[in-house]
Amino acid sequence: MTELTLEKETVFVENPSHFFKMPKEYQDLVIRQMMVHTEGELSGADDYIEIFYKMAPNAYEKQICCERGAEEVHHYIRGQELLRDIGVDSTYMLETNLKDRDLYGTEAVKDIRSWPERALFSYLGESAVLDQLMEMAESSYKPIADMAIPVIKEEKVHVAHGFRITREYCSTEEGKALIQEALERWWPISLDVFGRSNSKRSELYVKWGLRKYSNEEARQRFIEHTAPRLEELQLVVPDHKKNRKYL
Ligand SMILES: [Fe+2]
Ligand SMILES: [Fe+2]
Repeated sequence: MTELTLEKETVFVENPSHFFKMPKEYQDLVIRQMMVHTEGELSGADDYIEIFYKMAPNAYEKQICCERGAEEVHHYIRGQELLRDIGVDSTYMLETNLKDRDLYGTEAVKDIRSWPERALFSYLGESAVLDQLMEMAESSYKPIADMAIPVIKEEKVHVAHGFRITREYCSTEEGKALIQEALERWWPISLDVFGRSNSKRSELYVKWGLRKYSNEEARQRFIEHTAPRLEELQLVVPDHKKNRKYL
């Protein structure tokens, strides 16, 4: 676990005009965090509509894809509005293809290969994002906290649906083997969502109250609440370091 080497600032930034009076370091971090988040929301929408919809096994799951797609676009709009209020235009993201977006650290949003992987995308991938949103709900920048709270409510439902599909697969030996295979790919991807352990920027986020935990602390918390539930489904949780991109 990385030690925090920076002093924590006690800040509470109420609105955009207060934001513009903050040091450049704070402004840059807010913009970076929101650009990454906002792009991720749009990519999430594209995943549901462009990738999952086509592989959905029945009409109900197709309907779910459409509903989730709409929610993710709405999350994007919330991010776009927040950024616009601090002078940043993220509209170009709408014109960029899913494959060409480069802010979100993981390739996983661009390549989901099967329905078991789609299950783990929601159960693990969206759960990792949800953890980050929970930190944002306590952000020192109030508009971020205000944005995160309703988004969290919807993301919890996305994760729960991923869990339901996963559990359903795990009710047969054959299905469980498919999930286990998908888990070998999705466990490292999900852990990588939290970024590099030695990230200086993650320390700065904590320093300025934009996040509560460093990347590595957040990753360990995710492992603690996720691994036992996977084991309850009699899945084997892969080694935490195996196939990782961001250590
Ligand atoms: Fe979302
Ligand atoms: Fe989601």
